[in-house]
Parts: sequence; C-alpha cells; structure tokens
Amino acid sequence: MDYEHRPVLLAPTVDALLLPAYGRRKESRTEQGGRERTSGIFVDGTFGRGGHARALLSRLAPDARLVVFDKDPQAIAAARELAAADARVTVVHGGFSGMRGALAEIGATGVDGVMLDLGVSSPQIDDGGRGFSFMRDGPLDMRMDTTRGLTAAQWLAEASVDEMREVIAGYGEERFAFQIAKAIAARRATRPLATTLELAELVASVVRTREKGQHPATRTFQALRIHINQELEELAGALEAALSLLNTGGRLAVISFHSLEDRMVKQCIAAAARPAAAMARLPLRESELPQPVLEPLARVLPSPEECATNVRARSAVLRVAERTAAPLPPEGAAAFVSLPAFMRRPARSSSNRRRAAWDD
Ligand SMILES: C[S@@+](CC[C@H](N)C(=O)[O-])C[C@H]1O[C@@H](n2cnc3c(N)ncnc32)[C@H](O)[C@@H]1O
Repeated sequence: MDYEHRPVLLAPTVDALLLPAYGRRKESRTEQGGRERTSGIFVDGTFGRGGHARALLSRLAPDARLVVFDKDPQAIAAARELAAADARVTVVHGGFSGMRGALAEIGATGVDGVMLDLGVSSPQIDDGGRGFSFMRDGPLDMRMDTTRGLTAAQWLAEASVDEMREVIAGYGEERFAFQIAKAIAARRATRPLATTLELAELVASVVRTREKGQHPATRTFQALRIHINQELEELAGALEAALSLLNTGGRLAVISFHSLEDRMVKQCIAAAARPAAAMARLPLRESELPQPVLEPLARVLPSPEECATNVRARSAVLRVAERTAAPLPPEGAAAFVSLPAFMRRPARSSSNRRRAAWDD
C-alpha cells in the first residue's frame, strides 16, 4: 500500500528558492531584478514523495538540475520513478549531510538553492510497520533508512539508564525522562520491548501529567526517532554543506517541525548574518571584520487555512536566507553551526560507539 504525503508550505518554499524579491522590503526590490530564476542546480535534501521537488521542477527550465536526497528506500523508489521520466533529476540514497560529497561526484561545486523539509513524512508515520507511531502497532524500528543502523528496539535493549534518560530528556524535552528510562530498564529485564504499543503503554504508565491534546508518549517517540536517525547531527552537517555550496545569491529554505531543529536553523542564519558579532571585543578595524555570509530573508508560518486542512502543518516554520558574496571564514561554514548544549557533552559517547559498530 502506498501512503500519501501532503507537502507543507509548498508555494512559499518554491517561491523562496526562485523569486529574487522574495522576503525583501519593497524599497530594495528593484536592484535585485524581478525575473524568476529558472536555471541552475538545486538540492532537495528531503524528497519524501516529491511534493516540493515536483512543484520546483514545474517552474524550472529544461537545462536546470535537481539533486534529490532521502534516507528512506521507499522515498528513493518514488524519486527514481520521477528521475526516469525527467532527465533533470539526480537521485541520491543517503543522508543530506553528505550533500557536498554527492554533488562533487556529479561534478557540481556550487548550487543555487537548497531546500530541507525536515523530519518524517506521512507515509512513514501512517505505515505501522515502520514503527514511528505510538498510535499504530508495529515493530519498534523508527529508522528512516531501513537498510542500515540500529532499530529503536535494539537501542533500547542495550542503552544504559543514563543514556536513555539523556536522549529522552534532551531530544524530547520530557520531564519524566528518568522515570521512563528506569521503567524501560525494569521491563527489559524480564521481556524485551519489541512493539510501538508496548512502549507507548509503558511510557503512559509513568508519565503523570498529561499535556492537553497530547499522548503521553509523544515526547519519548520524538526523542527516540531523533536519536535513531541522528537528525540533529544530520541537520548540522547539511547547514554547513549548504553554506559552502551555495553560489552568491543562492537560497536556503528550511522547514522545521520542532523547536530543537528550528533553533539550530535560526542560530545558524543569525551567526552567518552577523559574523562580526563574535569578534566584537577584538581590536579589529571595520575593514578587517568578517562580512555577512547569509542575508536572512523570511520566517514563514502556515496560514490558518493550511493548518485546518493539514495537521502536519501546525508546527511548521520555514526560514529562508540568501548567500552573499562574502567568503567563508578560514575555519569554514562550521563556524556558524552549533548543536544543542546537551549534545556537546561526552556522556553519550558509548552509545555512539555502539552505533558505529552496527554501521560498520
Ligand atoms: C517531511 S518529509 C519530506 C516530504 C517532501 N518534501 C514531500 O513533499 O513529499 C521528510 C523526508 O526526508 C527524509 N529525511 C529526513 N531526514 C533526512 C536526512 N538526514 N537525509 C536524507 N533524508 C532525510 C525522510 O526520510 C522523509 O522522507
């Protein structure tokens, strides 16, 4: 069975990549020229079922190129079908943090637009067999890329109480993380946790305060999914790659669905827009200060109409920025990208070592 995905913030995302005046105040529009961009090389880091990709392609000329990524084999099958019918499309099965290497392989050193529509697609959530949903029974998998890596069940069978607490508290911002971690450890001592509903029920039994309209396992499932798929490490890698790949005038458009990822995107754009701020105390002349590498253009929320017809849109935020002509600092685009503080501590290294062993 194939499941449908309704793209979120579709028109603003494509407009953001193609319209020179997008997000600019009226006074500065004329200098930019008004013609829609139709050529160049574009990246869709999150193909899904191709809603954004198809809308972008419908506005691009025959000589443009679109390189699409996805970790998910089902999304990649859909992307390959599209590529078979449209020679402008190149498909890469893998994480979008590997964008630079994948583009180098096809001889592209610069790109004109990068879009990321983060998180999981409706087909991934709706198919109980993928293990992402606490509402549908299925194996506790949660991998976007089902061809590699540790499943959530495998990780929960091995992680220490401390590791589980840190993941659930950090990525889920869950107050009852310690109680949940202890309950998982107690349960697996007698029987392994194998299914989504087993985990959802266990979590519900220890989360004591219910947030209005939210299942008690929402935060735990979000946390495990982010951890299993290394979502924030991937995002950091993609932001860094996008900043170094974008040509002058090229656009970055990122749709986030929760505060951790949106904060990373916001902080990256702010840091790249004001690189001199970090050097304010150094005795540098004006001319020696680093120049902005990104110009922030817009923060867009879905309309009430879109939220009413597509529940996934309710938590979405689109941020748009344009690459300036300024060079990157000597340390590269990494200077502008940071992970949340709890991820920079060394405590999680043993689970990361275990993951590396599974991936080898
Ligand atoms: C919200 S959906 C994108 C939907 C798509 N824009 C559409 O209109 O059909 C997110 C997709 O990105 C993929 N994805 C998430 N993180 C990824 C990553 N780090 N690298 C590659 N693909 C990723 C997921 O597997 C999923 O298919």
